[in-house]
Amino acid sequence: MNIMQNVDLAGFNTLAVPARAAYFVEVTTLDELQEALAFSRQRNQAPVVLGGGSNVVLTGDIDGLVIRLALRGVECSEHGDERLVTAAAGENWHELVCYCIAQGCYGLENLIAIPGSVGAAPIQNIGAYGVELSKVLESVTGWDCEQSQLRTLSAEQCQLSYRDSIFKHELKDRFIITSVCLRLSAIAHPEVSYPALRAELSDPEQASPQQIAEHVAVIRAAKLPDYRREPNAGSFFKNPLISAEKATELLGQYPSLAHWPMPNGQVKLAAAWLVDQSGWKGRREGGVGIHPKQAIVVVNYDACSGRDILAFAAQIQADVLRKYGVTLDIEPRVY
Ligand code: FAD
Ligand code: EPU
Repeated sequence: MNIMQNVDLAGFNTLAVPARAAYFVEVTTLDELQEALAFSRQRNQAPVVLGGGSNVVLTGDIDGLVIRLALRGVECSEHGDERLVTAAAGENWHELVCYCIAQGCYGLENLIAIPGSVGAAPIQNIGAYGVELSKVLESVTGWDCEQSQLRTLSAEQCQLSYRDSIFKHELKDRFIITSVCLRLSAIAHPEVSYPALRAELSDPEQASPQQIAEHVAVIRAAKLPDYRREPNAGSFFKNPLISAEKATELLGQYPSLAHWPMPNGQVKLAAAWLVDQSGWKGRREGGVGIHPKQAIVVVNYDACSGRDILAFAAQIQADVLRKYGVTLDIEPRVY
């Protein structure tokens, strides 16, 4: 295990924030992970775990150890039409989706082209184009730093909901996910309810998993800027969930407000609509801006710091709160 010192993290976060890590290690085995954790314990510093760095805002240098999870491996078992796919945390999510489709294991096709690692997928219950990880998650295995042992949590124990899970609450900074088990199917069950996807398909109900994946990838490439050229973290804000009463009040004033009723009675609003209508789309201050085509995406055009990015976002949050009385929460984890 090679612990490096004073490492530039700009290449390890998709917002390309130029923070540094006092110590940095890539772990490829469970033994190495334990060695890395022991190193942090000796220094009395909590480690920071990174996968692909596509959902973090680094607001300064990291004094302790950054552990980049690079555990690899995928296994598949068959149970009738069911396919249980277990993938190590360091696998690339997009590559796993492509691999599963090629193997005839279906259920992940709508989640193609989401950047980042398999291990991070349960943290915010990744979702796109009508499917969330919760639909296919079987279990999550990881190292519990408090109990000093590997534990497997059932999907139910993970408490997944919109962009949320137990790993952001009770198990925050305590549970390092080492592998994820998905319950997929040899039979395709196309999920084509998302309007933008439906509109692209000639015969939505008959669409094959390959066609769905292909179309989702095309829509995503058209809608979201490539972080390699325009550094970003995808949606910078979560879509806010508000009460039905508040939604009725807002819709009376703003009939075109994009919104979706949720099963629990709450209403989800499009953060992109709120930011767009507040006049921020395409606006840039210094090296940070809102993308001209996608009002929910903050772009770090000029290698700005995480603090600059948050200061820019705070102005938008204040404007949206003032105008609509709605709080926008930041989606990426802030360090
Ligand atoms: P990181 O950014 O490395 O980490 C994120 C958080 O998870 C950190 O707090 C980290 O400590 C923690 N973490 C990471 N790995 C582990 C682990 N193994 N164990 C414990 N904690 C861990 N998200 C969506 O849901 N839907 C989308 O459609 C979507 N589109 C995106 C498009 C773009 C262009 C970008 C840049 C991002 C997008 N995202 C989307 C957000 C992001 O891709 C996901 O949140 C992804 O799961 C993050 O993976 P990561 O490995 O990069 O996580
Ligand atoms: N809209 C605007 N202006 C814009 C963009 C969109 O007004 O510039 C409005 C449109 O009316 C549209 C609505 O906002 O109907 C929603 O837009 P879109 O369908 O593009 O989805 P989104 O809410 O912006 C969410 C996820 C994405 C996910 C897509 C597809 C969140 C925070 N974001 O985006 O996830 O890929 O749906 O399912 O839930 C991410 O989490 O990083 C992410 C990219």
